[in-house]
Amino acid sequence: MRKSSGKTVKARKQSVRKAHPSRRIRSRTAVFLVGFMGAGKTSVGRALGKRLNWTFEDLDDRIGRREGRKVAEIFREKGEEEFRRAEREALGSVIDELASGAVKVIALGGGAFVQAHNARLLEEAGFPTVFLEASVDELWRRCQDQASAMGAQRPLLQDEAQFQKLHQTRRKAYLKAPHKVKTGKRTIDEIAAEIEQMLGLKRIAVREEQGEGE
Ligand code: S3P
Repeated sequence: MRKSSGKTVKARKQSVRKAHPSRRIRSRTAVFLVGFMGAGKTSVGRALGKRLNWTFEDLDDRIGRREGRKVAEIFREKGEEEFRRAEREALGSVIDELASGAVKVIALGGGAFVQAHNARLLEEAGFPTVFLEASVDELWRRCQDQASAMGAQRPLLQDEAQFQKLHQTRRKAYLKAPHKVKTGKRTIDEIAAEIEQMLGLKRIAVREEQGEGE
């Protein structure tokens, strides 16, 4: 159906959504990094935060603070379903803070964006999401290196076959992120620079205190 302006109703809705000032502002004040375990969300997020002088936050840390225990303990003591509930609520609280003016780079845990509810929340809020892409072999190798170097505990990291299978089931969901960056054979800072440029993000001169409002 066409309106007198010549645009279809769908096209009009899209142009209204694009032009809405709060959406435009939001696309410049926060960025969410998504991807599988080992994608480099935390390292790239930290580097990007540093480049921009924005606060960096790892959603898993917020979950840990809110629940009073580490992510691995939540999985062990309460199970994945409870973890996903905590993750959903933590994401909601970050979005509320961003909506009231906080400026941040946020790394999501590997399963967060795969949950349809979370992806929808981010889409509706209008904050950009960037999928950090790498081959499954590279992701597995990075996770193994991190486990031996830092003792990184990942409750869903078991054997290689299970890792590949989980990656396969999730890949389609990550590809729904509007922005993608390839991370293979590139330095963390190169990847951060690409995101900065791709999204036209601006460095802030003075970092204000942006603690959690809870
Ligand atoms: C998870 C990944 C983890 C953490 C939790 C669940 C997942 O984060 O959120 O263990 O479902 O893939 P990283 O991607 O930072 O390892």
